[in-house]
Amino acid sequence: MTGIDDNAPKFDALEGSMRDFRYLPGTDLLARVSAFYDWQQIRRAAGVWPLGRSTEHGAFSRCSARTDEGALFEGVNFASQDYLSLNSHPVILETAIEAMREYGVHSAGSPALVGNTSLSIALEDKIAEFLGYDHVALFPTGWAAGFGVIKGLVRPNDYIVMDALSHACLQEGAQAATRNIHLFRHNQIEGAREKLAKIRSTDTENGILIVTESLFSMDSDTPDIRALQELAHEYGATLLVDVAHDLGNLGPTGRGFIEIQDMLGKVDVVMGSFSKTFASNGGFVAARGRSVKEYMRYFSSPNTFSNALSPASAAIVGKAFDIVSSAEGAKLRGELMANIQMLRSLLGGCDLETYGDPSAIVCVKMGTEALARLASRRLPALGMLANLVEFPAVPKGQARFRLQVMARHSQHDILDAVHRLSAATSDATEDLQLLQSGAISLATLDEARPLPRRPARESVQVAGPAMDDAVRKPPIPANERRRRSRSAAAA
Ligand SMILES: Cc1ncc(COP(=O)(O)O)c(C=O)c1O
Repeated sequence: MTGIDDNAPKFDALEGSMRDFRYLPGTDLLARVSAFYDWQQIRRAAGVWPLGRSTEHGAFSRCSARTDEGALFEGVNFASQDYLSLNSHPVILETAIEAMREYGVHSAGSPALVGNTSLSIALEDKIAEFLGYDHVALFPTGWAAGFGVIKGLVRPNDYIVMDALSHACLQEGAQAATRNIHLFRHNQIEGAREKLAKIRSTDTENGILIVTESLFSMDSDTPDIRALQELAHEYGATLLVDVAHDLGNLGPTGRGFIEIQDMLGKVDVVMGSFSKTFASNGGFVAARGRSVKEYMRYFSSPNTFSNALSPASAAIVGKAFDIVSSAEGAKLRGELMANIQMLRSLLGGCDLETYGDPSAIVCVKMGTEALARLASRRLPALGMLANLVEFPAVPKGQARFRLQVMARHSQHDILDAVHRLSAATSDATEDLQLLQSGAISLATLDEARPLPRRPARESVQVAGPAMDDAVRKPPIPANERRRRSRSAAAA
């Protein structure tokens, strides 16, 4: 018996997905993962592996970055999560430095022992007050909060009724807690009702947790949170809402969709992350009554058996909540929304469709994975960082770029992003057409379709719109792109 299986998946650079490598054949756990690495290398050789990048000096609105092979490029950055631009806020930086001077850099223990500091205790109280709850438990990451709240509360005989597009931390928490998981179609309240009615028709003894998000990060849409909470009351269930993406940056006072839907303090359990708006790692779970927080501390593994949030993180997040609650926070939210509207409208003007409603997440439709990967190959050379999202994170054939907007993006940044994405999409459409017609191959792509060369250093000072040579070509309209890719497929 060999550890490597001849049936290991093999694809070319424009085919296959992560899902194909989740379950690999073979007995040797370490050898069989090479099938995935081989696929990555094939994609890297064709320039279509856009993941695992790093920024050189911080994730700012323009920055330099490296591919996971170390190639350096520069450009406008729509791939980082810093919605209110607090990562570079001078008061936040000062706060972090002061906290480190006073408390050291390490929390040195779990919250169940002596990992909390006066800073993290104060942060728990601040978040509780902000959201209208009595108590909050902090977690080392948002992922840990999502996983931990479900694993902490739900037992094997209980049920989970969950929006099918819920984040991985919620899905994995559910899988770790019980086999009784019922997914309902995205944002379909009636689907959730059917699942609840079916469960309660046979089981009135065990608990049910309904799980959703206030803002879905691949579609930029929101459920009817009030209706879900009413359903929870009707069927003796508990509602959990993950507010990772909208808390702090949406809503009149920054309390996100639970504020917009007049549900502040009315949702059974709220969890969130600090990594999108609050300039730090970390997450939280908020509920009424101290008992839930106490139970989390001793029965939710990522709370019990993992180090508490560092003092610097607790101080940063506390200060970020102060800014969010201030007039400056309102101004930053106004600037962010103006940027979002401008980006969406300019993208539309270039025939690039966006998903959902205005939020800091602007997902741009690409369609096939092949087209999206070819567009991602062009973006670094054009001077843009953007995250490509494809199956299984989104349905097959619905690949998209997920742009994340910051309050401090300038109009110039937005114009550049739109021009560059539009140019990348148009050129990738031609790349694909040539590949599909057999006129060129992936092996000769770089020679046949060379990438534009950019000046060594991108200016961050230029005021007003500017368009570089690489993007001066008019975009190919969406219907023309579709026509060309249909005729190439037929060829
Ligand atoms: C909806 C949602 N929940 C939770 C998380 C996890 O948050 P964190 O990055 O703080 O671990 C994310 C981040 O991707 C998210 O999008």
